[in-house]
Amino acid sequence: MIVARTESQLRVSLPKGLRIGFVPTMGALHKGHLSLIEIAKQNTDFVVVSIFVNPLQFSAGEDFDKYPRVLDQDISLLEAANVDLLFAPDSEAIYPNGQVVTESAGELGTHFEGESRPGHFDGMLTVVKRLMDLVRPDVAVFGQKDAQQVALVRELLKHEKIAGKQVELGVGPTLREDSGLALSSRNRYLSASERQIAGTISKGLFAANGSGSREEALSRAKAAIHPEARLEYLELVDEGFQPVKSDFQGKALMIVACKVGTTRLIDNHMVEIEREA
Ligand code: PAF
Repeated sequence: MIVARTESQLRVSLPKGLRIGFVPTMGALHKGHLSLIEIAKQNTDFVVVSIFVNPLQFSAGEDFDKYPRVLDQDISLLEAANVDLLFAPDSEAIYPNGQVVTESAGELGTHFEGESRPGHFDGMLTVVKRLMDLVRPDVAVFGQKDAQQVALVRELLKHEKIAGKQVELGVGPTLREDSGLALSSRNRYLSASERQIAGTISKGLFAANGSGSREEALSRAKAAIHPEARLEYLELVDEGFQPVKSDFQGKALMIVACKVGTTRLIDNHMVEIEREA
């Protein structure tokens, strides 16, 4: 596997005439990331993974300094997964003119995750755009676990071409531990008892499926989530990430964020709401 640390090392390592697949990450890789890499491999000829812990998407007081940085371990996993190129830049390579936010997530970026983490999505879109400008992928793959991030990247790719081409968006399903806990780099912060509490988050999402109304779905989910998983939000949203109305019938995405101990976790699941005839 080629390892590029700078823009010029990346530029000389990118092949010409091959379809490039791209999986942007912040490292601390787990099986969820490996499944995104697999999707990129199936759809392209040359797979690039980036590892960059993006300061712009962390607010003051968040876990930027504490965010797990385990590059050697990540490199072993990427080599075993036959990734072609790892781009692991430092901040200077990504933000040569200082850390300046250049993308706006707009209205969608201010709700849910955006409300809890002001500026997070502007910083995320800024780095995703910068990384794509450098890597120039044909296909970029993101995980459904970060559903609002996926919605915003979809909008970005709809409106902006990268190096003159339309980048295809690949979305990988959320992988889960046996307890149902969605895989996340942040799970490593959880103690054994917190892990058990965190396992009830997905139980709430699954319990909501088949409810007869929005209200029933939300209360079924709340009842199944352990009270020590402190809810920040729990909502049913449509494709545009707008909360569904109380008379909604059909499929909606249930999204949740909560804190277990000091660890903030998010998850989502498609839920069917169907009043019995
Ligand atoms: O999902 C992530 O890990 C990050 O938000 C991303 C897309 C790598 C941008 O920093």
